[in-house]
Amino acid sequence: MKILVTGKDGQLGKAFQKKFQSLLQDNPSAFDIQYIGRRECDLADLSVLENILHEYQPNVIINAAAYTAVDKAEQEIDLAFTINAAVPELLAKYAASHGACLLHYSTDYVFDGQGDVFYNENHPIGPLSSYAKSKAEGERLISEVFASSRGPQVSKSHYAIFRASWLYGDGDNFIRTILRLAQDRSELKVIADQFGVPTSTEWLVALSADFLFDMSRAANIVLRDFPSGIYHAVPAGQTTWYGLACLAVETAKASGQNLLLEVANIHAIPASEYPLPAPRPMNSRMSTQKLQKALADFGLVSQFPQWDQLVRIYVADLVKNQLI
Ligand SMILES: NC(=O)c1ccc[n+]([C@@H]2O[C@H](COP(=O)([O-])OP(=O)(O)OC[C@H]3O[C@@H](n4cnc5c(N)ncnc54)[C@H](OP(=O)(O)O)[C@@H]3O)[C@@H](O)[C@H]2O)c1
Repeated sequence: MKILVTGKDGQLGKAFQKKFQSLLQDNPSAFDIQYIGRRECDLADLSVLENILHEYQPNVIINAAAYTAVDKAEQEIDLAFTINAAVPELLAKYAASHGACLLHYSTDYVFDGQGDVFYNENHPIGPLSSYAKSKAEGERLISEVFASSRGPQVSKSHYAIFRASWLYGDGDNFIRTILRLAQDRSELKVIADQFGVPTSTEWLVALSADFLFDMSRAANIVLRDFPSGIYHAVPAGQTTWYGLACLAVETAKASGQNLLLEVANIHAIPASEYPLPAPRPMNSRMSTQKLQKALADFGLVSQFPQWDQLVRIYVADLVKNQLI
């Protein structure tokens, strides 16, 4: 089995490298893997990606690359659409015509954020920003390519789109920004009326690997025949940016990190007091029942951990490894 991973230097891409490294340590001949980052391939040039696909001929493609500069995307709309829509379309066309499997990542930002329900996968989308529209277009194109593909290879090929939210891992993210600011600020204002679920890349990658591969037979990792479609992939529970900031600071202090900022001096503000170029959804809650059922059908434990449990582990690890 040959696996191609794009976006190797991003938060998700780095987590995939770590995960696959440990799988290969246990079983060095389990699969062949190629990672690509900006140095190997500028995805804005689709012909370079096309060449890589045709030379490497992967059986599994994991698209961890994306244009993720949410505010900058308002100025770089064409580039955002190339990376977030044209690239996944090209990967889907390759997968559908070569009997390969595609795992792509999308975002809670495809929703308009109205109401306070946990959206399921069929809830109508309503992207508010250029970034969100480009990610929604990526989802649409992948589904369309697979739906309209014909030929002998199509029955073997399948795809999954995992919608995640508020990612944190090895890279820049909200938690690290808060902890950096907490070192030399004594007061901080944080938005408290946008709801969502922080998602650990380490957890998301472990979940993705379980979803893609049957690893129960140590000597032989087998690609699963999962149902194609969109899946919501976030931990359990819900919070706000304010709730996340408070937990991050509280955990860092409890882990021995010296911070000027006290939790009591983190002030809750409405999003309207912190305008940004790209609007964000007020409600990013997503139901994960569909993914939990798919995992249960594979005979796997399908209960997802609470978001705060994973944030505590992440922050304690940042402190331990002096990464703040
Ligand atoms: N971050 C979040 O909060 C969040 C929330 C929900 C969903 N998601 C989705 O989750 C996925 C992973 O996000 P992430 O946080 O891991 O993103 P990230 O850290 O920004 O990583 C994205 C990677 O894509 C690469 N990339 C972008 N443009 C490229 C180009 N023209 N050529 C080659 N590589 C390019 C970047 O390369 P460079 O490192 O060279 O820039 C980067 O390594 C994405 O699909 C994203 O939309 C993210």
